[in-house]
Amino acid sequence: MQKIAVIGTGYVGLVSGTCFAEIGNRIICCDVDEVKINSLKRGVVPIYEPGLKELIDKNTAAGRLLFSSNVGEAIEASDIIYIAVGTPMSDTGEADMRYVKDVAKKIGEHLNGYKVIVNKSTVPVGTGELVRQIISNHRKYPTVHFDVVSNPEFLREGSAISDCMNMDRAVIGSTSDKAAKLIAELHAPFGTSIFQTDLESAEMIKYAANAFLATKISFINAIANICERVGADVTRVSEGMGLDSRIGGKFLQAGIGYGGSCFPKDTFALAHIADQSGYDFELLKAVIRTNDQQRLLVTDKLKQAIGSADGKRIAVLGLAFKPNTDDMRYAPSLSIIPELVELGASVRAFDPIAVESAKPLLPEEVQYFNTIEETLEGCDACIILTEWPEIVSMDLLKAKRLMKETVLIDGRNCIPQQSIQQHGFTYHSIGRRPVNVVGSGLHTANF
Ligand code: UDX
Repeated sequence: MQKIAVIGTGYVGLVSGTCFAEIGNRIICCDVDEVKINSLKRGVVPIYEPGLKELIDKNTAAGRLLFSSNVGEAIEASDIIYIAVGTPMSDTGEADMRYVKDVAKKIGEHLNGYKVIVNKSTVPVGTGELVRQIISNHRKYPTVHFDVVSNPEFLREGSAISDCMNMDRAVIGSTSDKAAKLIAELHAPFGTSIFQTDLESAEMIKYAANAFLATKISFINAIANICERVGADVTRVSEGMGLDSRIGGKFLQAGIGYGGSCFPKDTFALAHIADQSGYDFELLKAVIRTNDQQRLLVTDKLKQAIGSADGKRIAVLGLAFKPNTDDMRYAPSLSIIPELVELGASVRAFDPIAVESAKPLLPEEVQYFNTIEETLEGCDACIILTEWPEIVSMDLLKAKRLMKETVLIDGRNCIPQQSIQQHGFTYHSIGRRPVNVVGSGLHTANF
């Protein structure tokens, strides 16, 4: 049993802290945001993540998981300190390190014995060393020792608990074997493989992994765009490619591009790190550009299907950046819906979870509905932006009866084309042949 303080109760801190408690450690999750801590103490979880609330309740009841806004006290009472504060994107694209630096200073001020400081936040290469210097400079007791470790997270929103409990690997970077061994032992109950390396390489692994996954997505989206032009079907192409074990089938799902709290931020940050190091990472910059352009396809396809959107009633199904989350950060809906409103469309939106987080970010003209059926009523077209299970399995017969025109733009390639054709929808997706589109020649699906 280790005594651990996790500083920062955002997504990463809360999930990691809870999972560390679940495997038997005593965790204090702390944050300077008192409102957040007080609601966590009352059992109110600030984010939507399947299974998280249940696990928090279980571990707080067992006395293994505590919440505190007294960060200094939590540091003093713990042997391992996880830094899990946000590193948001600044105006220049680089990671904003303000919160990490504040925490390092605080750790120095409250270092009352040997502790291992672990960086879980995604931080530029060299941050471990920076944290070490800040702690040294602010040490109250200069003879007290500490070590710094990088242990990046690879959690996906929506499946974060199972990703954490069944992680593919734990990356542990440190110059101290003693500290690395302690963090490796901490991970033993997860039964995962440990990849031990130096601090800088561990920091780089996180950026490189996310940039590579983003590259896979932009690559398949570019292939999708070519597929549309030459009459191929990108879903078949990615299946065929993915069977090559050197490529692998994951992250080859074409659509309207990636969003979320990590890929956009980390790709920008890595391009910036590269620039600063004197290397022009053209490949990654193209990945970012391809992703930005991909979301614009939806309105192009809509115009192709219905002509002008002016005065038309458009249903938008799915607002969150992906299913199983209420996270709206860099969600494609944030660019697409304002464009539709700008074009004069009357937008009717549905999302099973994300409506409350979406409302403040979207134009006030947008109307929200509780069911897919209500949303579709009298619509000239329906656009799918997030592949929530209830959207993927929606009743197309009912949809056909409710809509004024049976036009479906599927930004996630999530509706089977066969059933679309059965129900006579005019259907456009990404990198697949349109269905029931007159005069599209090569591009018309032929089963
Ligand atoms: C990601 C990484 O997977 C995780 O390791 C890291 O720590 C945080 O960032 P997350 O942002 O939660 O996790 O979501 P993920 O499931 O990876 O999807 C990211 C985005 O890519 C979503 O917008 C998703 O719709 C999109 N995506 C994913 C595709 O467009 N196609 C794919 O094949 C896969």
